[in-house]
Amino acid sequence: MKFNLTGRIVLNKSPEPNLPGLQKDLADFFSEANEMILTKGAPEGKGAAVTDWTLKDDNILVTIMSGRYVRAHDALLRLKKHLGIKFGKKYQLGARSVVADNYDIEFAIDRPPLAEIKVPFVQTIKLDGADLTCNISFENLSEEFLRQNYIDRIIKLVNHKIADQYYAGKSEQWEVMWSSVERDHVWSKDPTDEMQRLGWLKQGPTKGKWFYRPQLTAILRAMEQLALDHVLYPLGFQEVIQSHLVPFDIWLKTGHIAGTPNEFYYVSEPLTRDVDAWESFRDTIYVTNQVPSDKLKELITVPSMGICYAQCPGIYWSFQGSVIAEDSLPVLIFDRAANSNRYESGGRHGIERVDEFHRLEPIYIGHPEQLIELREKLIERYKYVFNEILELEWRMAWVTPWYLEQSGQVSEVSKEENGKVNGNDKNKDSVKLKGTIDFEAYLPYRGTREESEWLEYQNLSIIGDKFIDSFNIKTQRGDLWSGCSGIGLERWAAVFLAQKGLDPVNWPDKFRDVLGELPVGYRTL
Ligand code: SER
Ligand code: ZN
Repeated sequence: MKFNLTGRIVLNKSPEPNLPGLQKDLADFFSEANEMILTKGAPEGKGAAVTDWTLKDDNILVTIMSGRYVRAHDALLRLKKHLGIKFGKKYQLGARSVVADNYDIEFAIDRPPLAEIKVPFVQTIKLDGADLTCNISFENLSEEFLRQNYIDRIIKLVNHKIADQYYAGKSEQWEVMWSSVERDHVWSKDPTDEMQRLGWLKQGPTKGKWFYRPQLTAILRAMEQLALDHVLYPLGFQEVIQSHLVPFDIWLKTGHIAGTPNEFYYVSEPLTRDVDAWESFRDTIYVTNQVPSDKLKELITVPSMGICYAQCPGIYWSFQGSVIAEDSLPVLIFDRAANSNRYESGGRHGIERVDEFHRLEPIYIGHPEQLIELREKLIERYKYVFNEILELEWRMAWVTPWYLEQSGQVSEVSKEENGKVNGNDKNKDSVKLKGTIDFEAYLPYRGTREESEWLEYQNLSIIGDKFIDSFNIKTQRGDLWSGCSGIGLERWAAVFLAQKGLDPVNWPDKFRDVLGELPVGYRTL
């Protein structure tokens, strides 16, 4: 790594340049700095060095070169600190701030880039795939910028973006771990179209939303009842209710705001609740019977939060900074209050790919071995529901973990720790400790089993300590991990109805027992 900085130490005043002794003292200061302050912490001969300096009005212009140990911008900050100590008493001189006018950095990249990349804040970026080097240059960097370690983050970002270029070419991780029996299906129509025709369902008032009429509502609630009675309650999950609105600081911690900012519904607040401030807005509506968006823009905040995207972030937040008592582990809770909202745009289809969906999300926090045991129990319960009650044709597959995908860290996938439970090598099938399992079902209306894309209708993850660390959640002893599982009601219903049709006669008895009579609904003419 090479760092080459030209910048300034801004002084509290312009000293008289001919002040007796000042030039000499400055010269001594810089040569001493090169020996001491700027070498501290670096191996012999590897510190930073001021190669040039000039006093000009209330600035000392400096050129600093360095390698990786005391990086030039850290050297500039060290100089600022020591200048005050050295010149304060004798000359009443102090450093007010520092600026890097030009900063050139050369660093190694892990792999040759496959395409150009863009990174924020840099003036120029030059990648050399043959030499595996990157040269970036910056202009006019403030002291704040230098102090905050943005430089390091930018160097990391370059390497991440190159790694992502390699990942983008590869297919997603996908490995079947279990498959149900094949079943006969009663039809091969798209249930959404048919339900709209029958009046069980109406397209919602905005994109990707639905209005569920009594028949389909009853089916969705029956699915929910199955999840409660056969999965969550038997395993001891307790219910919580969280807010639908998620402030950005929560998504900063989970990584969502950097990973999927293009998929959120953002929320603004009124700038004021003062009635008078809104008078013109209201009067305009009175006159035009339209909402004046230009006026509205002036009356609301730039969003600092969004609508729930997944339920787990809000639950982690609720434990932020807590020490969970040993006797409460594993913590088993679920939320079914916050609907998930995702801006799907082109991907929308039927009730299975929507912008707003209803989901129960169980979240578990515990010691690694507790969660691995819990995963087995959850899978057993899910199998009971899907095999014995809903009688589905489905399978489970290890997939790219959603928590890496949603935080834009897909290139980290290969680094995920996989291994054998408790080092038990006797079991030949290696059991993954962390990762995401997708539950996928065959949708006859999409084509053949072999060729069509099956629908991911549920997932189950063990995440490790990623969110536990970001939210600073502690335990009394040992490691703490977490995980979650998304039970999407629309997806369960989409799969069930695609395989079993819309006539209750064809539905398994155990499901009909939970559902009761299908509501008659109503007719509109
Ligand atoms: N939080 C997980 C997801 O978003 C599980 O619901 O997929
Ligand atoms: Zn989750």
